[in-house]
Amino acid sequence: MSSGSGAPPATATPDLFSLRGRRALLTGSGQGIGLTLARGLGVAGAELILNDLDAARLDAAVALLRSEGFVVHGRRFDVTKAEEIASALGPVAGEIDILINNAGIHRRAPLESMALDSWQAVLDVNLTSAFLVTRAVVPGMLQRGGGKIINLCSLNSEISRPTIANYAAAKGGLKMLTRAMAVEWGGRNVQANGLAPGYMRTDMTGVMTVDPHWENYICTRTPAGRWGEPKELIGAAVFLASSAADFVNGQILFVDGGLLAAL
Ligand SMILES: NC(=O)c1ccc[n+]([C@@H]2O[C@H](COP(=O)([O-])OP(=O)(O)OC[C@H]3O[C@@H](n4cnc5c(N)ncnc54)[C@H](O)[C@@H]3O)[C@@H](O)[C@H]2O)c1
Repeated sequence: MSSGSGAPPATATPDLFSLRGRRALLTGSGQGIGLTLARGLGVAGAELILNDLDAARLDAAVALLRSEGFVVHGRRFDVTKAEEIASALGPVAGEIDILINNAGIHRRAPLESMALDSWQAVLDVNLTSAFLVTRAVVPGMLQRGGGKIINLCSLNSEISRPTIANYAAAKGGLKMLTRAMAVEWGGRNVQANGLAPGYMRTDMTGVMTVDPHWENYICTRTPAGRWGEPKELIGAAVFLASSAADFVNGQILFVDGGLLAAL
């Protein structure tokens, strides 16, 4: 599988955004944003490798995307465990052109009473995982002359609110890990960027979507006046994964209905 990223820039617009011939690994893609982005990359032509911790969820997602006609493989592993990542990926770790570090969790609690295991779990799944999975995959990208890394950041890479100190610390760290990757590998044609969603309707935000207080808060606070849908992230992900972004490196692209721009 050639990286494609090392090729001269395409001139025709559709080719500029094409992912034909590229192989993409998306962590935590059994549902939610990861599954939606996988479908989007598949439409753009990529071969897909889905991952999740939950085997049944992963199998269902692989079967679903196969039934839609995509070339899809599944690899179950825990993104926080280096040995599991290595054994589940095997030689394919060296043949990834696009890596989307998407797996993430929330454990909300007031900071003064937050348990250490809630702190640690959120740091492990949202931040350390990106280090571990990228470390497994990037040698192949460097060897083959290029690749794209997209880290799922957040509004909380920049701003916080009560009860999510662990998540804000992890996503803030992920922003800086993204920049560190960008400067470390930019000279070898590997670009690392962050994709930062605003409030999107998924399982992760389910507790908020059913709470009238949060529903009102988010729709009032977001200039667009509404929640986002995961499919609204596809354009940004395809862009960052494609040759159109060959000179875009170390950026955090917010897709948030304008929230971060608003007081
Ligand atoms: N939903 C939002 O509004 C929103 C906003 C900003 C950022 N994000 C980020 O986007 C990403 C996806 O969020 P989502 O809303 O789709 O979440 P989700 O909970 O719907 O899906 C996350 C997936 O990750 C998997 N996962 C969890 N721990 C894992 C592990 N250790 N190893 C492998 N897989 C694991 C889960 O099984 C699940 O399928 C996360 O990084 C999240 O922080 C989400």
